[in-house]
Amino acid sequence: MPLINRNFVDPSDFTLDELKHVVNLGLKMYDNPMKYADTCKGKILGTLFYEPSTRTRLSFESAMLRLGGTILGFSDANTTSAKKGESIADTVRVLDDYADILVMRHPREGAPKLASQYSSVPLVNAGDGGHQHPTQTLTDLTTIQYYKGAVKNLKVAFCGDLLFGRTVHSLLKTLSRFPNIEFTLISPPELRIPNHLKIDIASNFNVKILETESLEGCISTLDVLYMTRIQKERFFNEEEYLKLRDVYILDQNKLTHAKDDLLIMHPLPRVNEISYDVDNDPRSKYFDQAKLGVYARMALISLLLGVCE
Ligand code: CP
Repeated sequence: MPLINRNFVDPSDFTLDELKHVVNLGLKMYDNPMKYADTCKGKILGTLFYEPSTRTRLSFESAMLRLGGTILGFSDANTTSAKKGESIADTVRVLDDYADILVMRHPREGAPKLASQYSSVPLVNAGDGGHQHPTQTLTDLTTIQYYKGAVKNLKVAFCGDLLFGRTVHSLLKTLSRFPNIEFTLISPPELRIPNHLKIDIASNFNVKILETESLEGCISTLDVLYMTRIQKERFFNEEEYLKLRDVYILDQNKLTHAKDDLLIMHPLPRVNEISYDVDNDPRSKYFDQAKLGVYARMALISLLLGVCE
């Protein structure tokens, strides 16, 4: 599967078979991590994070270290020459000589795409504004594959901020490429998925999409429930955020109506949208999801560097 030297800035950069290949390799690595412990010996991963992150940056770093490689990078652009006005293009032209693979998060939509045009090494989008988060999608596909056995024949709901939620945008469009996935989109009217995305999915994929404001009204039908945070940082106005922030809170009471094998996911961080009493419910897998993200990223790094097949 020729993923060597490719960029990954949008899930559609990879074919369905290529996505499945990354997921399957990630799960092999999860089962037998020691087999891959020296795979990236001598290789360097560079992390360019212009926006805060816990999981994505540290899971990439953990992934590279677990593969025997090393890491460098920044997590606060204010400590870099970006503060002096250095462009993304110039930064990447320099850092591609310092590292063998680059991972970038940026608040501006399209910034990693631009960066990839100047990078001589593989560049991975670690989240750009409200646009895409392709490695979260790899993490999510790996989680669904692991807990459901296959990514097919599922009723999947996304709940919360579907307008700004880049994890939702990436996963929704990607799942549309898998067989027989039905979607329920649960949001207040203000946070519905962008129209362009709905039109894109409706015109390119033969999928059923139901839109609703009620989590209670559909929870009993679902196989996968993907909760999301109402993202304060994407709102222009605090009042609007405060009005919407607690609109959906998943608690044990609502779960009494859900299937026994419901898979509850969340890309994290969580604020109020899943109450803490749900964490002990065996259907809650969001912390396992974050763990599987390390292995999905190990697989991606290895394939882009051409050290695994
Ligand atoms: N899921 C996710 O992207 O988390 P971080 O913002 O902590 O990286």
